[in-house]
Amino acid sequence: MKYIVILSALFVELLLGLGLFHPFGNPRVEPSKGLDTLLTHSTMPARARDILIAKCANCHSNETRWPIYAPIAPGTWLIERDVVEARKKMNLSLWDQMSSEDQEQVMREIIHETKNGEMPPLQYRLLHWKSQLTPVDIATLSSMQTSTSVPAEIHTAGDAGRGQMVFQRRCTGCHALEDNREGPPLAHVFGRKAGSVAGFSYSTGLKASAITWNEATLEKWLNDPDVLVPDNKMDFHLPKAQERVDVIAYFQTLASSKL
Ligand code: HEC
Ligand code: HEC
Repeated sequence: MKYIVILSALFVELLLGLGLFHPFGNPRVEPSKGLDTLLTHSTMPARARDILIAKCANCHSNETRWPIYAPIAPGTWLIERDVVEARKKMNLSLWDQMSSEDQEQVMREIIHETKNGEMPPLQYRLLHWKSQLTPVDIATLSSMQTSTSVPAEIHTAGDAGRGQMVFQRRCTGCHALEDNREGPPLAHVFGRKAGSVAGFSYSTGLKASAITWNEATLEKWLNDPDVLVPDNKMDFHLPKAQERVDVIAYFQTLASSKL
């Protein structure tokens, strides 16, 4: 019995010791400056800020409150990895150091992630269920004005050359021009009926949608597919308005060059 106690004491010490290593980076080196330093100079309504500070700042800022089990490896590594990744994507402590374009993009990402129930992450909501967003929270975040300068509708005209680069960078992971991949081929998408490429297995939502792909429908789809077709299976969107008009211009050029 005594040995078991000694052995388990040694085991706990070993785990605590491993907790001093930080294989995914050490997020604890950032000094804490207090919650009121978060989101400084943001244009968000106060209620939206309060929600983000209460429910997201634990991972997405330098003000992490570490749980008591955090010093114990390997749990500590998983939590540290999450916090490192989360701060890379969005750090509310560094808000005023972002360009206004980046701030707008992050705000659109916040709306997208919370509407789809992807943030806060599920395993975290189970442990800290007060972090669960209420429907009112989601509506408050969704109604944030994400564009501080120019309304999203007014941007410079689409450029097919830039659009081709957007296509190669952002779409070819799933789409080819002529062949079925994880997504359907897109060379002739402009002017085509949605869900109509033979041999591609579409979601029933997209097949039944009766949409024809033109400037307006592509704009909506690429901005947030779930808004246009609620049960589609394209797990991707293009938050930057300029990239959307450019890639649409590219498809338009491809369509007219086939005539
Ligand atoms: C338990 C830690 C944790 C909490 C709490 C949390 N997040 Fe995250 N978040 C992450 C991690 C880890 C990532 C990066 C990996 C990923 O995208 O899943 C991330 C990514 C994001 C991204 C970027 C998505 C992308 O793909 O670019 C946004 C936006 C975001 N979170 C918003 C929020 C919002 C809003 C809240 C609060 C309602 C929140 N998060 C709460 C851990 C967290
Ligand atoms: C992560 C994979 C993925 C990425 C990245 C992706 N798509 Fe998709 N896309 C899909 C899937 C899957 C579908 C089929 C959706 C369905 O059936 O609901 C689809 C469907 C579409 C459709 C409808 C086509 C039709 O025949 O009705 C268009 C248009 C489209 N994608 C454009 C794009 C563009 C433009 C990009 C890059 C900016 C892009 N997608 C990036 C997976 C992806």
